[in-house]
Amino acid sequence: MFTVYGHRGLPSKAPENTLASFHAAADIKELNWLELDVAITKDKRLLIIHDDYLDRTTDMVGEITQLNWSQMQQSSAGLWFSDEFENEKLPTFEDIIALANDKKMNLNVELKGVSGPNGPQLSEEMVRQVSEKLKQLDNSLKVLISSFNIPLVHLSKQYMSEYPRAVLFKTAAFKDDWRTIMDFCDSQIVNIEDARLTEKRVKMIKDAGYQLNVWTVNKKTRANQLKNWGVDGIFTDKADQMMQLQDEKSK
Ligand code: G3P
Ligand code: MG
Repeated sequence: MFTVYGHRGLPSKAPENTLASFHAAADIKELNWLELDVAITKDKRLLIIHDDYLDRTTDMVGEITQLNWSQMQQSSAGLWFSDEFENEKLPTFEDIIALANDKKMNLNVELKGVSGPNGPQLSEEMVRQVSEKLKQLDNSLKVLISSFNIPLVHLSKQYMSEYPRAVLFKTAAFKDDWRTIMDFCDSQIVNIEDARLTEKRVKMIKDAGYQLNVWTVNKKTRANQLKNWGVDGIFTDKADQMMQLQDEKSK
């Protein structure tokens, strides 16, 4: 079974990590998984955004962990993309749970690393709140927790061991100690960057018994190649163009 994850929803058609983007992804026939990035504000509210700063994907500026939720609640998370999406707000984690329940979508929750002096407290609070709020998700839906941040993956085991955990690796960060990291996180799932990924490396990870997902794959030819190498899934900004791939696999 080859899995396609809608990376930040369907960001080729709607602004990433907004409800518009997740709805667009959920409307794709046969797409079952959404990937989203979870961050936390200074006053400990979870929100869905990729960057540490508001600057790129909202009409505001500033570092999220240094601002309170009320300061960014009304910002537009869609205007940067196009006028049509001016009314898109930063989603909360509750918004995502409601959408997932409504549209029957599985969730890959990526926990964004927290920086700054209050980082350790905010990190633990993020994991605690994610684990609490996920209790509202329909039992029939699947969850995958992931992070580049090793302490966050480790904390996920402590707070929500019922969900599988993936460790995210950038190409440059995938070194000889990768299995030690996986062991430390008690994780069986490697989510690796696509850049310079070779068949040899795919085989090595798979032969060691791990599941392997690759991000971010936006070319169909590359997706097909990865599938043929034995990769378990891909994250894509163009999930609407990748479903045929899945069909071919299941034939
Ligand atoms: O989870 C896959 C992918 O989203 C990881 O990288 O930077 O897009 O969150 P990034
Ligand atoms: Mg992500």
